[in-house]
Amino acid sequence: MADIEGIKVLNVSTQKRAKKLSEKYNVPLINSESAETYVSIDDQSILHSGNYKLENSFREGKFRARISQYQGESLLKKAIGWQSTSQKHILDTTGGLGHDAFILALLGQKITVLEKNTGLCILIEEALNNLPNLSYFNDAKNNISVINNDSRAFLSSAENFDVIYVDPMFNSKKKLKRTKQMQFLDNYLKEYDDPSVEFYKSNFKRLVIKKELRAAPSIKDYSAISFKGSSVRYDVYSKGEK
Ligand SMILES: C[S@@+](CC[C@H](N)C(=O)[O-])C[C@H]1O[C@@H](n2cnc3c(N)ncnc32)[C@H](O)[C@@H]1O
Repeated sequence: MADIEGIKVLNVSTQKRAKKLSEKYNVPLINSESAETYVSIDDQSILHSGNYKLENSFREGKFRARISQYQGESLLKKAIGWQSTSQKHILDTTGGLGHDAFILALLGQKITVLEKNTGLCILIEEALNNLPNLSYFNDAKNNISVINNDSRAFLSSAENFDVIYVDPMFNSKKKLKRTKQMQFLDNYLKEYDDPSVEFYKSNFKRLVIKKELRAAPSIKDYSAISFKGSSVRYDVYSKGEK
């Protein structure tokens, strides 16, 4: 899988942050002009891959609109079995840009985000770091931890989470609409991975798999319940849930 060669600091004021990220993710701080794939840390951090650039702001663009309407995420709420009176601990096994994880955190859930691509982990951290200092954002931030690993490392601890959440990369042959960010991910990550079948075999309590509406289910299990929206579907599997 493609990943970053290092972190570039473009601004003296972001040096400390870049150093922390470099230590946490064990990637070097670089200033080489020849680097092809790197994250630049600035007021707006960017993942660079050749001529392509990926930003992940939670303050603007389409995702900002989603954030402002997070209470209306009824499909996602149903999928995870959301309850106003209790907090679930969710394992997001395919972190990506951290969008679903952040919505779940705004909904009061505790999320452990696993993303195997280091560059994407740093983009999630930067998006969280650049949020305005508002109590509901701070609460959501405190509910998220980001771990750079293949989520399969957590298969044996699936039972410790209330929900296992999987959003595998799109792999349909049909040309469905992709956002620019998702198109970047298709090109950047190159290889498709979907840990849902392995998690289905684990000792999970509730397994939620996000799919495009008409995509074939990852797992054929007639006891699954599907929550369908206009473009996505959540397939929900349950084992030993209280
Ligand atoms: C479609 S994206 C997820 C988007 C994410 N739900 C969001 O809202 O931003 C899929 C991501 O899962 C990651 N991924 C796939 N298999 C993984 C695995 N076994 N462990 C960790 N990350 C994985 C890929 O690197 C990719 O970034």
